[in-house]
Amino acid sequence: MEIKKLVTDLTVYEDRKELPAEWYNLLSIAYESAKKAYAPYSRFYVGAAILLENGEIVTGSNQENCAYPSGLCAERTTAFYASAHYPNVAFKKIAIIAINPQTKLTTPVPPCGACRQVLSEYEQLFKSNIEVLFAAEEGPVYKVNSVGDLLPFSFGADFLPAED
Ligand code: THU
Repeated sequence: MEIKKLVTDLTVYEDRKELPAEWYNLLSIAYESAKKAYAPYSRFYVGAAILLENGEIVTGSNQENCAYPSGLCAERTTAFYASAHYPNVAFKKIAIIAINPQTKLTTPVPPCGACRQVLSEYEQLFKSNIEVLFAAEEGPVYKVNSVGDLLPFSFGADFLPAED
């Protein structure tokens, strides 16, 4: 028997001023998107901005519904928009930020499991790692180098039987 350890590098930016300019810009764009969230039920406003390989930046926010499960997280809203409009273009980076107008959030908000799975699909599809940066309105900002770092042992298309 053997116990293997999985290691994830987590980059912690204690101050947003430490962020490289491209990340600072992407996070600012995600923040503007968070303000456009439709989140009347949770009042948890999340914005995402994806930088594509072609240089385009695609944004989105969480969209809720009175039939609660019908809503969608910011990350998937943005990823699906990106794939719908730029079907053959890899994702390079995603910045995510959450705002709650009632309490200042200070802990970086990571993508939920379902969003990790969806982002993982695009990472595997394009064989190109997607860097993920996540933040709250205040406090530190975290970055991982790939979705695989957030979702080890991911299920992927390779597990499905090959096409005829
Ligand atoms: N939400 C996101 O948009 N992204 C996440 O990573 C976590 C949760 C949304 C879904 C729902 O609209 C609200 O935040 C509360 O869960």
